[in-house]
Amino acid sequence: MEDTSFAIHPDREKDTDEGKFYDIGNVRKWQEEADGVHFICQNGYVVVQFYCQEMIRVTMNPTGVPMMEQSFAVAMKKEQVPFEVRESADAVYITGEKLTAKITLTPFRLLVTEANGRTLLNEGERGMASRRTGEVICFKDMEEADHFYGFGEKTSFLDKRGEKMTMWNSDVFAPHNPEVDALYQSIPFFVTIRNGQAHGVFFDNTFQTVFDLKQEAHRYSFSAAGGELDYYVIAGPSPKDVVSQYTRLTGKMALPPKWALGYHQSRYSYKTEAEVHELVHTFQEKEIPLDAIYLDIHYMEGYRVFTFNRDRFPNPAKLIDELKAAGIHVVPIVDPGVKRDPEYPVYLEGIQAGHFCQYAEGDVYFGDVWPGESAFPDFTNQDVREWWGEWQKFYTDLGVEGIWNDMNEPAVFNETKTMDLAVWHDNDGYPKTHRELHNVYGLLMGEATYSGLKKLLNGKRPFVLTRAGFAGVQRYATVWTGDNRSFWEHLQMSMPMCLNLGMSGVPFSGADVGGFAHDANADLLVRWTQLGTFMPYFRNHSNLDTVHQEPWSFGEEAEAIIKKYIQLRYRWLPHFYTLFHEASVTGVPVMRPLVMEYPEDANTFNLADQFLIGENILVAPITTPTTYHRVVYLPEGEWIDYWTDQQIIGGRHILVAAKWDQLPLFIKVGTILPQAETFKPVDNISIHVYPSDKVCEYTLYDDDGETFAYQAGDYFQLHIKAWKQDEAVYIETEEIHGAFQPDWKEVSINVHGPVNKIVINGKEQ
Ligand code: GLC
Repeated sequence: MEDTSFAIHPDREKDTDEGKFYDIGNVRKWQEEADGVHFICQNGYVVVQFYCQEMIRVTMNPTGVPMMEQSFAVAMKKEQVPFEVRESADAVYITGEKLTAKITLTPFRLLVTEANGRTLLNEGERGMASRRTGEVICFKDMEEADHFYGFGEKTSFLDKRGEKMTMWNSDVFAPHNPEVDALYQSIPFFVTIRNGQAHGVFFDNTFQTVFDLKQEAHRYSFSAAGGELDYYVIAGPSPKDVVSQYTRLTGKMALPPKWALGYHQSRYSYKTEAEVHELVHTFQEKEIPLDAIYLDIHYMEGYRVFTFNRDRFPNPAKLIDELKAAGIHVVPIVDPGVKRDPEYPVYLEGIQAGHFCQYAEGDVYFGDVWPGESAFPDFTNQDVREWWGEWQKFYTDLGVEGIWNDMNEPAVFNETKTMDLAVWHDNDGYPKTHRELHNVYGLLMGEATYSGLKKLLNGKRPFVLTRAGFAGVQRYATVWTGDNRSFWEHLQMSMPMCLNLGMSGVPFSGADVGGFAHDANADLLVRWTQLGTFMPYFRNHSNLDTVHQEPWSFGEEAEAIIKKYIQLRYRWLPHFYTLFHEASVTGVPVMRPLVMEYPEDANTFNLADQFLIGENILVAPITTPTTYHRVVYLPEGEWIDYWTDQQIIGGRHILVAAKWDQLPLFIKVGTILPQAETFKPVDNISIHVYPSDKVCEYTLYDDDGETFAYQAGDYFQLHIKAWKQDEAVYIETEEIHGAFQPDWKEVSINVHGPVNKIVINGKEQ
């Protein structure tokens, strides 16, 4: 080679500029346009616009005019909102009703403030920049008081200050530990809480992104491997406001069917029809309520999706029907990999129609997954999503109403764990590489599955469980946190992980109860089931070759406790369902970190071994083996021990005893809590009142739990008001919406705490 021109190859010279960041530089020219204010800078072109009054969108393209594309994540159209543009000697001010963006011109630096003067984002010495490799980055000042939440599904603790996190959907079987932060979901969104007030940033970029809150003490950055620097500054001012506003942008959770909120049992795998029958029989015999059983990959013929192995499952329709009659749904797993088999209709159809991911040159991409060599549907194309949606008919014809989407990072059994980054995605005629669209593959599979099921289920609500996702995944699916292990550390980590998922717009999440890989034991399963009872998604799942972990697997004492807690979940369903409905409207999660309700209380900033259900129910699980007491932090106010009715003054840490059958649970005074007295069906309901001197209110929500009729007004709402005055408790109830009549026939009222007199709707009891 040396005697050819290769000897003078340009690569022989070290290009030192490649790694250099080019600051956006000075503004050369700026102008107001219909969609916002445009700035042409030395090293990039920026558009600053009001997306709505609560959100400023900033888009920077280092090499040309920003495309301002509507992404897969964003579900909301830009609103036409009035804004004013003013110029001073060295800056441009863009002012809306709530927020102002001040852009300093030499160099371009952004400051976002609220009308009252509160600073949301500030760029100091460093602002936006890019590398010649296509990487874009942006720096913001980090104040002493800043704490960070969200970022989707991440390991480690609740407050992400001091962490550096990568967003790249990854199938991680090796244990989830603090070093591994790129897991199955990528949600490039975070909430900053500073001095009790909050704002959010959504970085809408599907490339691999990195959030660095570690490197520098007074500055953080977010960057992407390519594309535009496109982000939304979200106003707040409360943490709940931020999540609400963010889910206006990326969509709210679809209200799940009620059965999705019950107890679910899974295993890799219940391999035969007989095994499933026996499992159901045991649940029934032991009177442990159950809403769903999962069929993992063994149900299929050679792991071909949309098939049943007829030796193992001779009559799936009958099985599914019988289970449904017993109130149990069957949820089969469906992975994206379609086996390369020219005699398999799904593969044939996909090949003939060009539905699989291909290289630019037209060759289909094949990767190894469970079925061996497989092709992968290109969900970035609308026709493919519809095609995949239609294939769900295979399951809905058998009576299935819920699908479990797994391996949709997409996972591939190779060194990189995923598809070749050079593969093209059609992207509805605007092809982009897998490098750019990897992170949305799972989201779009979820969309295809959800929309397909919705069309096929004749008005019933679909249930979709997904492992991978991106911002907006809540519109289609419930998220479980993948392959955790039967480690106490993973029980502990499931709390901050799901709390941050909730802060990232995903209210319906949970971890495999009991742990997936490794072997569970009695203590772990008991304590994990206690925690699972109060997680939004409550499924016990375990791996091949691990010790079985069904509720009765570890002896009678453990079984009795586990049963008690699964039943407790059903007692709490009326309240959970009310909170789920609220989350589907407001986006505010069901399971909340304490910092969401007490953002000024420094004790809550990184508190994640206890959490809230709604506003005022505090759950403090036991998270270590053979432990029968723990410290609980009760924020200011008065609390009541759920089990003993003992009143405790908050604003302090207390030591709580928790025998094996006890999960520490506290209700704040001023709470109204409905509880089912019976489960499946709920015949009686009792309203528990924990009164305070102030008026407390609650609106109990119910509907048929399975159709979309509620959207046309077929729902029920009971408004309850209670207060205490001179040792008497006054309660008023009013049916404010009665278009749907709940199952329960009786409603009783139960007042907690010392009272002399109870007056309900004007009548003394
Ligand atoms: C993946 C999933 C796990 C499932 C297994 C077999 O590891 O995360 O839940 O049981 O695949 O399908």
